[in-house]
Amino acid sequence: MGKGRPRAGAEVRVQPLSLKPPPDRLYGRARGHKLRPRQQRLLDVTLPRLAVGSFRSSPSPLEGEGRGGGCRGTDGAARTPPPNLGPLRGPSPQGEGGISDLFPPTITQFWIEVGFGGGEHALAQIAAHPEAGLIACEVFENGICSLLSRLVPDGEEATGPLPPNLRLWPDDARVLLRGLPDASLDRLFLMFPDPWPKLRHAKRRFVHPAQLPLIARVLKPGAIWRVASDDPTYQAWVTEVMAAQTLFDAPPPATTRPEDWPPTRYEAKALREGRSPRYWTFTRR
Ligand SMILES: C[S@@+](CC[C@H](N)C(=O)[O-])C[C@H]1O[C@@H](n2cnc3c(N)ncnc32)[C@H](O)[C@@H]1O
Repeated sequence: MGKGRPRAGAEVRVQPLSLKPPPDRLYGRARGHKLRPRQQRLLDVTLPRLAVGSFRSSPSPLEGEGRGGGCRGTDGAARTPPPNLGPLRGPSPQGEGGISDLFPPTITQFWIEVGFGGGEHALAQIAAHPEAGLIACEVFENGICSLLSRLVPDGEEATGPLPPNLRLWPDDARVLLRGLPDASLDRLFLMFPDPWPKLRHAKRRFVHPAQLPLIARVLKPGAIWRVASDDPTYQAWVTEVMAAQTLFDAPPPATTRPEDWPPTRYEAKALREGRSPRYWTFTRR
């Protein structure tokens, strides 16, 4: 992120009626540098201990050349929910009790993070909120390894204790959201999403007029949707998209990170490089 960005507000035109809907395929990288043996063990052994109904279209569902600006997807695979999100371990989110079946009975809140990156925010949230069950979603293998490596020491991939209030969805978060029953979630986090600053890539943005009904459907009335972005184009876009909708209360964003918003790697990079993040709290009506 950061290179070749347009100036603040450039290329932002929402025009919801003329906008193309988000494509099913994902753009951006699913794989980075070659995995080291420890990373491969984390994916092979630790991930199945936490993954919810994990599936991957074979063998590499997403590949591209970077992210957030000018990446191209290559898989072309339709990413719709499979008929049965057969879990690797534990029940699927569409089971009888829905998302609550995935967590111990002490969990009373159900949260999802879209695109957890290295996992800093997800891990800080579950540590601070043992009453909340978080499903953290990420498609980038190296990011998934980064989160897993903070959970289990080397050599304990199969046995190291894991937090009871964390589950992982190592795939497109939209597929998980589509499979959830109505009003399942108390919180949704979208921290520094890929900005896709070029107007012709606007349909790839996670905040999108065509995506709001899905997000609204899975949130409970009064549930919170947090969005942070450091990208001026995306900031203007979020402002315009949310001003044009009626599903959420959408007050102006905070200009400094609110309490209980753990920092992320992308935020740190944005601040180092002199950008000014914005932090939105949307409430489902
Ligand atoms: C710019 S990074 C930000 C990472 C992290 N939230 C942070 O603030 O450091 C965006 C991440 O979202 C992931 N991502 C993008 N679209 C996604 C989707 N539909 N489902 C799951 N992850 C997604 C990307 O792989 C990428 O790691």
